[in-house]
Amino acid sequence: MAAMCSIIGYVGEKNLGQVLLDGLSRMEYRGYDSAGISGLKDGKFVLLKRLGRVKNLADAVDSSMNLGNVGIGHTRWATHGKVSVRNAHPQISCNGIFSIVHNGVIENYESIKKYLVKQGYKFSSDTDTEVLVNLIEYHYNKEREPKNKFLTSVQKALLHVVGTYGIAVLSKDNPDEIVVARKSSPLLIGVGDGEMFVASDACAIVTHTKNVVYLNDGELARITRSDIFITTMKNKEVNAIKCELDWQTEDVSLKGYEHFMLKEICEQPQSLENAMRGRFSDDMSTSKFGGLQLSPHELRQIDRILFCACGTAWHACLVAEYFIEKYARIPVEVEYSSEFRYRNMPLEKNTLVFIVSQSGETLDSLAALQEAKRKGYKTLAITNVVGSTIARESEGGIYQHSGPEIGVAASKTFTAQICIAAMLALYFGRLHDMSFDEGAAFVQALLQLPEKVAQVLEKKDEIRLIAEKYAHYEDMLFLGRQSMFPIALEGALKLKEISYIHAEGYPAAEMKHGLIALVSEKCPCLFLATQKDILGKTVSNIREVKARNARVVAIVSEEDATSFGYIDDVIAIPDVHDAIRPIVATIPLQLFAYYIAKIRGCDIDKPRNLAKSVTVE
Ligand code: AGP
Ligand code: GLU
Repeated sequence: MAAMCSIIGYVGEKNLGQVLLDGLSRMEYRGYDSAGISGLKDGKFVLLKRLGRVKNLADAVDSSMNLGNVGIGHTRWATHGKVSVRNAHPQISCNGIFSIVHNGVIENYESIKKYLVKQGYKFSSDTDTEVLVNLIEYHYNKEREPKNKFLTSVQKALLHVVGTYGIAVLSKDNPDEIVVARKSSPLLIGVGDGEMFVASDACAIVTHTKNVVYLNDGELARITRSDIFITTMKNKEVNAIKCELDWQTEDVSLKGYEHFMLKEICEQPQSLENAMRGRFSDDMSTSKFGGLQLSPHELRQIDRILFCACGTAWHACLVAEYFIEKYARIPVEVEYSSEFRYRNMPLEKNTLVFIVSQSGETLDSLAALQEAKRKGYKTLAITNVVGSTIARESEGGIYQHSGPEIGVAASKTFTAQICIAAMLALYFGRLHDMSFDEGAAFVQALLQLPEKVAQVLEKKDEIRLIAEKYAHYEDMLFLGRQSMFPIALEGALKLKEISYIHAEGYPAAEMKHGLIALVSEKCPCLFLATQKDILGKTVSNIREVKARNARVVAIVSEEDATSFGYIDDVIAIPDVHDAIRPIVATIPLQLFAYYIAKIRGCDIDKPRNLAKSVTVE
């Protein structure tokens, strides 16, 4: 497994160092180990690289330093060659003609390297990336045709490459151009007034321009200050289609919060409202989606729904399973993308496949999408990033409209996914047997969601005080039944991800079939005991762990709160419609994990070993 790191590029009049460093620091949340930039000035590359944070690199750049008017930058997450300044990007070609930044992996780098060594190429790093930049130089030196020589050499080199890449390349002989290309690694071009930007993530450039052109897989582009020329690996010219980013500049700043994660947790009343905006029928009895590309008639023929996703998005799919089966009576299956892609799963004829991915770039989920498409199934995406690969490759879908999520651990995008799942259950339910009145009550419940979530957020301080009592443990169990089981899984994942406490989520009753062996005074349990119909059962499970001296914290409905006097810590949430309860119950778990991580002094927005989108298997 590897992670995708960041690329930035700029050609224009602004202070190059500042644009590059600012862009890199906005993408810092992705996790990386070293950073570097290069500019082209007076026919020479100015190269700066540092280990660790972008700040170390920024400290090395004097703001008055003139790096030229064209440059590229990178944060690296090492895959080939250890973490060192030598291996950091940009990498310069052997004879100094090219400078490159690269995200991804060149799988056949060894054989190419052998060949180039025979041709006299010298290598000064252990990276696969340096092999690519030397291969570009090799083709450049062979190329006769002076027209388009730069772009053609990059193209010829890439034709020999097996692997994944997003690249941005500078050429000493073409000081006004950046050449970019992509395969399974995102890249977009920001169009300014007499200036152009390149980035692997829109958040890096949103403060400069909202006009972007997304590059597709298999495309290359030559970018100058005023022009973009896009072509494919097969030399087919492509029209540059401009899109407008719907992000606000303040979405990518902390706005006074200590961490992006806390900001994003607190933004949920708005992000949920955004997920629902414009998505209810005029008579307020059902939901509607603009991008499904399927008629009600076609959707009625669906016999089964398959959801594929990874991590947190997979948890959201488990909630979708409960919702859709309960309200629409359509059988649902949920599979990990990484399993689905190799499982050769038999699917019924009228199966609809949903791929759920916050980033829209997760490689396993993209592969699951491609596999489902290859088999001829209808595929739809639920994703947060407009123009992402999964959004573009699926036949239709639903955007989350959560705004950028900078904290590596997902928070507001998880609840938005569940909210969309609830709206889908409502939609399919109404297509089948759900009555007008039930539909109308469902819509009213959803409309209350932002307000109910805001009420739980007001308990921040109460939850922080409870978190203080649990921050020193090394193990913790999260237990819930039915639609609260995926919330237990997500609560455990949040705690693991940001506080490094070992945590497991389990169906509450299943605990006694094995997990209970872990229960002791050293292993507290968090119960989601909010559902009236099965409350008695959950209470029995609580008693079972109390009898084994475990400390218990329970999320309960406000009206039941007084009956939990025997529990160590109780967090009461409003008593709400079943369709919104999983979302309301998620909020205390997010805050609980956040405060524990904070007490333990963890790097909350950039947890160790994790990356925001995982674009390698
Ligand atoms: C979220 O907290 C995680 N870091 C991770 O599990 C994530 O949900 C997973 O990698 C899937 O990402 P995606 O939604 O962008 O596809
Ligand atoms: N494979 C390249 C390297 O190890 C790029 C890694 C990345 O995506 O940051 O240098």
